[in-house]
Amino acid sequence: MQVIKYMFQPHGDDRGQLIALEELKDIPFHIKRVYYLYDTAKGVVRGKHAHRNLEQILVCIHGSCKVRLDNGEEKKVVLLEKPYEGLYVAGNMWREMFDFSEDAVLMVMASQLYDEEDYIRDYDRFLELAAKARR
Ligand code: TYD
Repeated sequence: MQVIKYMFQPHGDDRGQLIALEELKDIPFHIKRVYYLYDTAKGVVRGKHAHRNLEQILVCIHGSCKVRLDNGEEKKVVLLEKPYEGLYVAGNMWREMFDFSEDAVLMVMASQLYDEEDYIRDYDRFLELAAKARR
């Protein structure tokens, strides 16, 4: 499984760092939605679903967290701990976010508006669809 991490270029000077993200330039899709998770309680696992057609970039802009990616055949854990790195996650990928540091702010940019119909929340159903997509 290929893990796609984007390294954003900070505009740094002696005042500090600034990162600007533009759709179709730094982010490979039109950004239709941004959401972020913060104050995540200790031990919580979020996500636990896949999407049919959604593309997302996850950036832990403060603190750290881990993301488990599972394509139905293989699993990988990615640590996000830098505000300049973005993890690209497309559809047909089961994802779980966990091990949030107390100060973690996980920002997600998404290619579509929120649509419950796009969610696959049943793991066995996900495995069936992922196997079908591989055929
Ligand atoms: P949920 O899907 O449980 O988040 P996660 O997958 O990270 O565990 O979403 C929590 C709530 O927020 C749920 O009521 C749906 C709502 N929500 C929106 O309204 N818009 C969004 O873009 C997202 C991601 C969630």
